[in-house]
Amino acid sequence: MKDPAAIRKTLENVSNIPTLPIVIDKITRLLNNPQTSAEEIGKAITTDQALAAKVLKLVNSAFYGFPGKISTITHAVVILGFATVKNVVLTASIFDAFTKKVSLTSSFDLEKFWLHSIACGAASQCLSKHIGYGEKEECFIAGLIHDVGKIILCNYLPAEFELVVQNTVQKGCLFYESEKEVLHMTHEDLGGIVAERWNLPKNLRDGVQFHHAPVQGGEFSTTAGIVHAADILVRAMDYGSGGDDLIPQMADVVWNNLGFETMNLPALLEEIDDEVDKAAVFMQLV
Ligand SMILES: [Fe+2]
Ligand SMILES: [Fe+2]
Repeated sequence: MKDPAAIRKTLENVSNIPTLPIVIDKITRLLNNPQTSAEEIGKAITTDQALAAKVLKLVNSAFYGFPGKISTITHAVVILGFATVKNVVLTASIFDAFTKKVSLTSSFDLEKFWLHSIACGAASQCLSKHIGYGEKEECFIAGLIHDVGKIILCNYLPAEFELVVQNTVQKGCLFYESEKEVLHMTHEDLGGIVAERWNLPKNLRDGVQFHHAPVQGGEFSTTAGIVHAADILVRAMDYGSGGDDLIPQMADVVWNNLGFETMNLPALLEEIDDEVDKAAVFMQLV
């Protein structure tokens, strides 16, 4: 068994951990320039044909509210706005990076894992809307990729992954606890390494790195808190699986900070159900 420092070193040296496509960088730069036109963004995305096709498929789904009505990327930018299109491109790219090369020998169910991830994204978005937090699209992505460290573990340290899976089943514990026990590090740490390598915005990094412990250095991360709660809600609602069948208790700090005490929970759960239905289109990218 490798110690955490050795695992970190292995991961830092793996040159084939996917990078995000250059187009993401290019779009970010274009978006930072107020002179940029919808056509220029459209052109930048269309240089990657496969990516452009995925983006068009997503923007034409019920999830974005204009099913079947958007014919070009430029059109998507005009209708949905720069920020939304950038988020769609980021999402499609992340799926691209992580759904290609997975080889599984264990009982870990990838299909259920992606459903858990997509549902967590949808639930995070609903929660952020519910509490009036302005970063709802970012919350969607944060929820979607919160457990990406598990995929990294599965791809790049398959023997260790297998041990964690077996230990989880044997002990009937949380995947997260099993990782701590077996590896002395978790999918949060691994996800954090990749989020950093990808230069993801701080909110997204927080969601990936701190969704099990949303208070860091005495500071509460709202995005991480939202993902923490969403992860638990979709487990309770039985959407997919994060690798174990348990429903952990919500941290008090999340319960209090997000105002669950006064929340209309039945309305929230109904909303999550609707959004998960719409977000099902993302399963087609897997
Ligand atoms: Fe997690
Ligand atoms: Fe999760």
